[in-house]
Amino acid sequence: MNRPYAPWDPSVDDTFVCQAVRTVTPDIKTVVLAPSRPSAVLFEAGQYVTIEFDVNGLAVNRCYTIASPPTRPERIAITVKRTREGTVSRWLHDGGIAPGTRVRVGEPQGDFTIAAHPAPSYLLLTAGSGITPALSMVRMLYDQAAECDIVLVHSQRRPADVPYRDELGWMARHLPGLRIHYLCGDVAGDGPHSNVVAGRLGPDVLASLVPDATTREVFACGPSSYREAARTAASAIGCAPHRFHEESFAFQEPGRGTPIVQPVGRDGSSRSFRVEFRNLGVTIGCGADTTVLEAAKAAGLTLPSSCAQGLCGTCKSTLVAGQVDMRHNGGIRPREIASGKVLLCCSRPLSDLVVSA
Ligand code: FES
Repeated sequence: MNRPYAPWDPSVDDTFVCQAVRTVTPDIKTVVLAPSRPSAVLFEAGQYVTIEFDVNGLAVNRCYTIASPPTRPERIAITVKRTREGTVSRWLHDGGIAPGTRVRVGEPQGDFTIAAHPAPSYLLLTAGSGITPALSMVRMLYDQAAECDIVLVHSQRRPADVPYRDELGWMARHLPGLRIHYLCGDVAGDGPHSNVVAGRLGPDVLASLVPDATTREVFACGPSSYREAARTAASAIGCAPHRFHEESFAFQEPGRGTPIVQPVGRDGSSRSFRVEFRNLGVTIGCGADTTVLEAAKAAGLTLPSSCAQGLCGTCKSTLVAGQVDMRHNGGIRPREIASGKVLLCCSRPLSDLVVSA
């Protein structure tokens, strides 16, 4: 691959500058970002990045799959659906980000990638904005004029709402080995299209659209109910569970819906530590087997959080005193850990703690 720039190094400069904001459908926008120092972002199609936005003076972190392909490494694009309760998505759709806006971007992460699961043939099952990893994969294969055997089955309420449908159609016409089917609940007014099927994903539909599905490596991305339907359908027709991979970034917004967990050890241990939230002026108990975020919620405190998986960085806080066992998934940078930051959603106390929150 021709890479005119040196590889991007987030430890040197993690600032990206917005190059463009494009309206894809009435409720989907694509944001194009470039490293502030021209460089090539090296990643695998299907990986995600954590992006820190300045939302009205507040640093807010969210994870987004990179929708652009690694074959175009000087820019990355994220494709974001507006959601009613999404703080960042509403801010972004309402003009919060524009060409010239600066954001901070973490290293690409994740193994929801063709590279991590090499196979002779693939089946991509996607719904709504869950199409983003498939976009990156298909665009890469198109750029490479790759020999491939890949079927994309995308679910959307209406054909007109499918993001990048024209581009996908173009790529399918020019990339032998790529087949695309759309499953839509409402096909009225779309005219006859050979690749649009009315209905929802289920075993019968999957078996009829992709008769050789069991021979393929399967990737599923979309809301949790969709992924469950995809998993069930794939399993019912005989796809091997170890060849079924899934991904979702439909995270809860801060403060919503996370299960309450008692601040005692789940192993029945009574070992518990004191956690002082310095800014809130509150001290609670936290079991050794409980994350600080879980204990805070159980105590009725509302702290910023989103993924609760150590991915997005929303719950980042400074550990003023004490020690934690932190098992994160890339939502915090090594230099932040070195400077005393922790992610409260994936940190369990090893001693009494004082945190800055
Ligand atoms: S809530 Fe996402 S990293 Fe903690």
